[in-house]
Amino acid sequence: MGNTRERFLIANWKMHKTVGESRAFAREVVRRIKGTTLRNQLMICPTAPSLWAVGQELSGSQVSLGAQNLDLGREGAFTGATSGYLLHEAGAKWVIVGHSERRQYFAEGDDLIGQKVAQAWESHLRPIVCVGESLGEYQEARTISVITRQIEALFSKATEEALRTIIVAYEPIWAIGTGEVPQPSQANNVAALIRKILAQKIPDDADNIPVLYGGSVSPKNIHQFLNEPHIDGALVGGASLQVEELLKMADISS
Ligand code: PGA
Repeated sequence: MGNTRERFLIANWKMHKTVGESRAFAREVVRRIKGTTLRNQLMICPTAPSLWAVGQELSGSQVSLGAQNLDLGREGAFTGATSGYLLHEAGAKWVIVGHSERRQYFAEGDDLIGQKVAQAWESHLRPIVCVGESLGEYQEARTISVITRQIEALFSKATEEALRTIIVAYEPIWAIGTGEVPQPSQANNVAALIRKILAQKIPDDADNIPVLYGGSVSPKNIHQFLNEPHIDGALVGGASLQVEELLKMADISS
C-alpha cells in the first residue's frame, strides 16, 4: 500500500492450452471485463503459437499480451528459434525471461538471461525477469546471495535504459506448482532487496520497478502477498488457467 508503482497480475500459461482454447479464453476474458476497470493490470502469456490469435482477441482491451521466452538475434540460420522481433510482430509487448523452468530444463544461465534482457529491449519488448532460489539454497539460507547474483548478472549485459523497463518476479523455485508458499513478509523482504540491488545500477529508477511474487499464488492466498508494501502483483501459473480464478486475482486490491 502507499506506493505508486504499477500493479500486475500476469498469467503464465506455460505449455498449456491449444491455440483454439487460448483464443476462446481470451475472448471470454474480454467479454467479462468489458466496462469494468481491473485493479491490477492483467497480462496473458500464452504459448508462442497462440500469441497472434490471443493478441487479436485482446486488441483494444485493457489486457496486455506477453510471450514466455525469446531467442537471441533478429533473423538468420537458427533452426527452431523465435526472435523478440517476431514475438513483437505477433502482438506481444512483454516477454518472460529467465523463468526457473528455462534455467532448469533448458540450461539457461545468468549470462544468457542477461543477454536476453538486452535483446528483449532491442526488440521493443519489456522483460519480466524471474529470479528465485531452489529448495536446497533456501534450506541453506542462501536466498540473499542467489538473488543478488541473479540480479547483478543483468548489469553487465543490459543497459541502464533496458533495466528501467523491466518487471522482476521473485519466484522461489520450491514454491512453483507445489502449493508451498513463503511467509509473505519473507517474500516482501526479498522484493525490497531486489530493488536495493537494482539501485546500484539505476539509482533514480529502482524505486519504480515493479516487483511481483510468483509461486503457488491462488485466489485464496494472493491477498496476503499484495498486502505487502514491496510486492506489486503476482506471476501466476496453475491458477491462471481458469477464467474465474484469473479475474478474481486481477481485481484484488491490497
Ligand atoms: P504456479 O507457477 O503458480 O503454478 O506455481 C508460477 C510460475 O511458474 O510462474
